Amino acid sequence: MRKRSIALMLCLLAGAASVVHGQAATMAPPVSASAQATAQAPALPRVRLVATGGTISNRRGGRLTADEIVASVPALAEVADVEAEQFANVASSQLTLEQWLDIARRIEQLFREDPQLAGVVVTSGTDTLEELAYFLHLTVRDRRPVVVTGSMRNPSQVGYEGQANLLASVRVAADAGAAGRGVLVVLNDEINGARDVTKTDALRLHTFASRTFGALGVVDTDRVVFRRTAEGRHTTASEFDVAAITALPRVDVFMVYQGAPGDLLKAAIDFGAKGLVIATAGAGATSGTQGEGFAYAREKGVPVVATTRTGSGRIAGPRRPAGPGAAAPQDPPGMAPRIAAGDLSAVKARILLMLALTKTSDSADLQRMFSEY
Ligand code: DGL
Repeated sequence: MRKRSIALMLCLLAGAASVVHGQAATMAPPVSASAQATAQAPALPRVRLVATGGTISNRRGGRLTADEIVASVPALAEVADVEAEQFANVASSQLTLEQWLDIARRIEQLFREDPQLAGVVVTSGTDTLEELAYFLHLTVRDRRPVVVTGSMRNPSQVGYEGQANLLASVRVAADAGAAGRGVLVVLNDEINGARDVTKTDALRLHTFASRTFGALGVVDTDRVVFRRTAEGRHTTASEFDVAAITALPRVDVFMVYQGAPGDLLKAAIDFGAKGLVIATAGAGATSGTQGEGFAYAREKGVPVVATTRTGSGRIAGPRRPAGPGAAAPQDPPGMAPRIAAGDLSAVKARILLMLALTKTSDSADLQRMFSEY
């Protein structure tokens, strides 16, 4: 009997307590046991996946969607809270420049609207991945990491490495140490900077590398390790605002080869190119009648940026006048005009020139940009 009345009292007390909770509930929603447990556990960093397609999604019989790729890697749930969106589902070389602008704007919007978002991962085909990554490096004005990834083998092949690359990329995007390093390219457990990375092999899995300067870090089983910082202006320090750019001007890339004709350079200008990039032989040499093409470019006010076709090394800046009042020395015959791209590859110099031409066509200002970015 006594036990019963104690039990009754406990029930009444519990009821009173629930009334108090009920009153509180009018101010804040009731918290479920599982939500309480979640609240106690430290929240996982939030990472957004923006999928654009590429081999990583190119399953035989039908491409994987962004959600299917995420669902295929259960381990993601241990490192981040990943939400996915499908921007496109095509080969990297099929993305248009308008789509590049849209991807940059979308990532800026994601960061702007979600201050708690830790980072963004973009999946891409690997063929022109380095170009998209460098474009984002110059245009996404946020410190938070943007990681571009893909895979060399598709989901229908033995040894598909897309899942491992996605997991490594999400770990980097969720890592506080990745902020402020510009856009990163993560494949094969290596972190390369968007400015210097290039696809070095058409087929091998270890294809992405930063020649001369090396990777920025690695993704190991215990943690993400950074060993160096990418130099050059990028992201938050960039002067290029995609919100203000409606279209990118046409810029064409040419290569120097023995006996190359200059009329192709002239034709590009006549077809509307607003800038040219030339991948010179060695440290600036041209060939054939290309000099005539450069003279035409000068006449039409079309800037020409010199890069090297060697795959590494610099095109040095313009030679300086010998002393006060001295005229700037002319480029010797057979050498490309000097807006020097330094060690930027030809395809990346084109990207910087397209963005630069939305702001200026003054060659000194263009040279400043090639020296700074
Ligand atoms: N080679 C891949 C790329 O770089 C394309 C494969 C595909 O997605 O069709 O985009």
